[in-house]
Amino acid sequence: MKIAIIGTGYVGLVTGACLAELGNRVTCVDNNSEKIQTLNSGTIPIFEPDLEEIVKRNVNAKRLFFSIDLPASIRENDVIFIAVGTPSKENGEADLSFVEGVARKIAQHSQNPKIVVEKSTVPVETGRRLQALLTSHNGNKTRFEVVSNPEFLREGSAIHDFLHPERVVIGTNSESARAKMQELYGPLNSPIIFTDINSAELIKHASNSFLALKISYANAIANICELTGADVEEVTYGMGLDSRIGKQFLRAGIGFGGSCFPKDVDAFIRIAKQKGYSFGLLEEVQRINAFQRKHFFEKIKKRLGSLKGKSLAVLGLAFKPNTDDLRHAPSLDLVPWLQKEGALVRVFDPVAMNPARLKFDSLPNVQFCADEFEAMNLADAVLILTEWQQFKELDWEKANAVLKKALIFDGRNLFVPNRMKQLGFEYISVGRDAL
Ligand code: UDX
Repeated sequence: MKIAIIGTGYVGLVTGACLAELGNRVTCVDNNSEKIQTLNSGTIPIFEPDLEEIVKRNVNAKRLFFSIDLPASIRENDVIFIAVGTPSKENGEADLSFVEGVARKIAQHSQNPKIVVEKSTVPVETGRRLQALLTSHNGNKTRFEVVSNPEFLREGSAIHDFLHPERVVIGTNSESARAKMQELYGPLNSPIIFTDINSAELIKHASNSFLALKISYANAIANICELTGADVEEVTYGMGLDSRIGKQFLRAGIGFGGSCFPKDVDAFIRIAKQKGYSFGLLEEVQRINAFQRKHFFEKIKKRLGSLKGKSLAVLGLAFKPNTDDLRHAPSLDLVPWLQKEGALVRVFDPVAMNPARLKFDSLPNVQFCADEFEAMNLADAVLILTEWQQFKELDWEKANAVLKKALIFDGRNLFVPNRMKQLGFEYISVGRDAL
């Protein structure tokens, strides 16, 4: 199949590379010529395990191409994925101007029928609007079939998620588009759900918000555990064994971040409101999520007293492990809060140091360290903000020897409290210490 992917961001690049891996001829298009040059020279602009390898393999096999020529890419391909950004506007609504701009170009440059696949995360009913926009801007010359095909990729495991999905969701009203999508995704041997466009779009909103809700629920339980002397890890383990609840996304901590959940929950609340439904349940999900960071910060202040002049080692800046993405990461709040209180904040992340420099460079009293031990040297406390595997495997005995105080605030519950106690640490985590 000949496919064009418009927008070579995270979703577009992963989708393009994986569709090429399945044997299709894919052209990834972007209007950022520097990015296309970088990709053509074999460099991947984002950190994502296995992506570089898969891109190289498919470029060498002449199945994957990068281009800035949008009109040619539209003319030469039958299936066109729209994977451009939908950033939040100031009022929180999704900005659809890039999606609509691309749709206008598709309408303008199409000379034969096209299947237009909406991959960007968009509000429900966008597919319907795209169908009208494509037809009206093309003067009814060409047939367009719109498909909603939401993505469920997790950063850090996006390639695996794409190639082994638990389900593929396809929303379309067209039989021929349905057949084409079956042909495209059939080789994955995963369940494919065919539905109408609005339902497909809603599956995306409803799924992401439900996962965020599960996390906030676990965090609310963690807070009750702190008030009752129970242990949230025991409680969520006991809950998760019930298959009706499930084990996943019950990890308590300092809350969810990233490019999806915060934005998606916000967007879903707004969409519901516009339609006349007040989604108070999701507003509470947001409130609990914001509370988790503040509460962690308050615990640090309560234990240390004044933070003025205290040296704090912050381990982990990315919003989760295996990514260099800092979007909505807890570190974006916590580092400035700690620094404002007069602490010397010595930060380290295994891969997110460069994006972190862009965020924190202008802050006084933030030092960027080469590794965990440099960050912890003579520190008054260690703060764990991201659950990187290498922090789990760290030589904590050696760490104890370089610290001024053997005190850990663990925002991700990486360790069994008794083990840390045995190693000589005072260990304060989430939902496991009576307040
Ligand atoms: C998410 C969805 O999982 C994916 O399907 C969607 O397409 C994009 O958004 P992602 O943002 O990459 O993916 O990360 P995910 O692994 O889902 O984690 C999101 C956030 O929730 C992270 O900040 C993580 O630390 C937090 N989280 C996750 C918890 O706090 N507890 C959990 O139990 C799980």
